[in-house]
Amino acid sequence: MKRIGMLTSGGDCQALNATMRGVVKGLCHMYKDEIEVYGFLEGYKGLIRNNYKILKAEDFSGILTKGGTILGSSRQPFKLMDQPTEDGINKVKAMKETYKKLKLDCLVVLGGNGSQKTANLLSEEGLNVIGLPKTIDNDLWGTDMTFGFQSAVDIATQAIDCIHTTAASHNRVFVVEIMGHKVGHITLHAGIAGGADIILLPEIPYDINSVVKALEKRSKAGKGFSIIAVAEGAISKEDAALPKKKRKEKIAQRAYPSVAYEIADQIKDACGCEVRVAVPGHTQRGGSPDAYDRVLSSRFGAYAAQLIKEEKYGRLVVLKDNDVTDIALSDSAGKLKYVSPQDSIVLNARALGISFGDE
Ligand code: F6P
Repeated sequence: MKRIGMLTSGGDCQALNATMRGVVKGLCHMYKDEIEVYGFLEGYKGLIRNNYKILKAEDFSGILTKGGTILGSSRQPFKLMDQPTEDGINKVKAMKETYKKLKLDCLVVLGGNGSQKTANLLSEEGLNVIGLPKTIDNDLWGTDMTFGFQSAVDIATQAIDCIHTTAASHNRVFVVEIMGHKVGHITLHAGIAGGADIILLPEIPYDINSVVKALEKRSKAGKGFSIIAVAEGAISKEDAALPKKKRKEKIAQRAYPSVAYEIADQIKDACGCEVRVAVPGHTQRGGSPDAYDRVLSSRFGAYAAQLIKEEKYGRLVVLKDNDVTDIALSDSAGKLKYVSPQDSIVLNARALGISFGDE
């Protein structure tokens, strides 16, 4: 009998359930259903507090298309892992105790950057851990693709598509703010897929004058409307030049709810055109996984089951050149995968005439 602990940690996304289903289906296939799955509730919180439910193979049936996570999730920041909980529990010690008490053979962690850092910590503490790369942001170092990303891109693209028709009817400039935390992968992909005219990313600081210039060029060419896809973490050249602490303070004191509203106001002042903001927000993390993510997460799950069979632990399942493979958790921990301004996709976008607001 194999005893598997499983948890979903950090911000949710599409395909968490599909990935867990993949792991369990793969294990059931190999072990002829001789497995016991301990699903920890609300991520690492469940592992810390020994709060779990025992799941059977049937619990993973019919969840391939179900958004969210049947286990619940929570954010347990890695940087606070060495600090006790509000009621004095030593988190790392408690997680190790839960693992030992339940006599687990392995712990499967579905999570993004911070969660995989904790997975690596637990692996270094001697637990058998396997990580699966989750996040809509696609910023986990070491994998070409995280599950959740393509589904989020689809939703952000649909949002831009909808904005397109109304922007055209009213001859307006629209600033569509897209999720992605510190990186611009979703914005870049959805921006291209949605036919945005200007794409602003954290990795390519913008100059508002260049943005205005790009808008004026369009209107001189007889285009009545424009779409700007802006990443929630986009930053101006001026702010990017500030020391990190000063930059953080300035952004925290911003008189706008987010960067899109600030840019919209600056454009209004400079061009006198009608500008609107649209923020699809958490819709980008909701609903069913798309077909791409269903395939990817099923492959990731089956591969994780194989790693368990081989007792190959301390590994993160990744996609490399369209093959599912694995790397050491320690290789990925603490590194972010950014968009590089030199990436061919950025150069392709520039070749299409898309402005990144930087020249
Ligand atoms: O990491 C996924 C993500 O959706 C980011 O794109 C976004 O910045 C953040 O989570 C939002 O977090 P929360 O759900 O805590 O508001």
